[in-house]
Amino acid sequence: MHKLVLVVGLVGSAAFAAEAKFELKGDAGKGATTFKTLCVSCHGETGKGDGAAAAALTPKPCNFTDPVNAERLTDEHVYKTIKDGGAAVGRSPLMVAWSSTLKDDQIRDVAAYVLSFKPAPAPAKKDAAKAGKPAPAKK
Ligand code: HEC
Repeated sequence: MHKLVLVVGLVGSAAFAAEAKFELKGDAGKGATTFKTLCVSCHGETGKGDGAAAAALTPKPCNFTDPVNAERLTDEHVYKTIKDGGAAVGRSPLMVAWSSTLKDDQIRDVAAYVLSFKPAPAPAKKDAAKAGKPAPAKK
């Protein structure tokens, strides 16, 4: 009886650990080729969501380079969207699942490439306000 409780406990915590820490371990250099072959038509050469096919899409693919999207585009979100498709993460099914086309390491590589479009982390809020807004005119 005690043994069973122990085993259940161990399995439970292992699953929790796996969920808590996601490691992408992708190679952006390798992923670039995949991106240029399979993704640019919609996502655009520079990841801005302005590929040739994007004009016909609603919703449009997001701009990977826009700081507005940076917080949402976590390693895990990007990996999961590519692997399981937009619908699996509550977004548009126009973004298909690539798990039947790409191997897991290819998905990780192309995800790393997508993440390389992300701008450097935004500066602290007060600095952003300082940098973003023109100084109030002096009276
Ligand atoms: C047929 C056009 C099309 C192709 C090809 C395509 N995507 Fe997408 N993708 C989309 C659209 C549209 C969305 C936006 C879904 C939404 O915001 O609801 C999207 C969303 C994404 C997202 C999530 C962005 C977010 O805002 O959450 C990632 C990451 C992504 N695509 C990566 C890829 C990668 C990598 C490839 C190539 C293997 C690829 N896509 C190929 C259309 C495409």
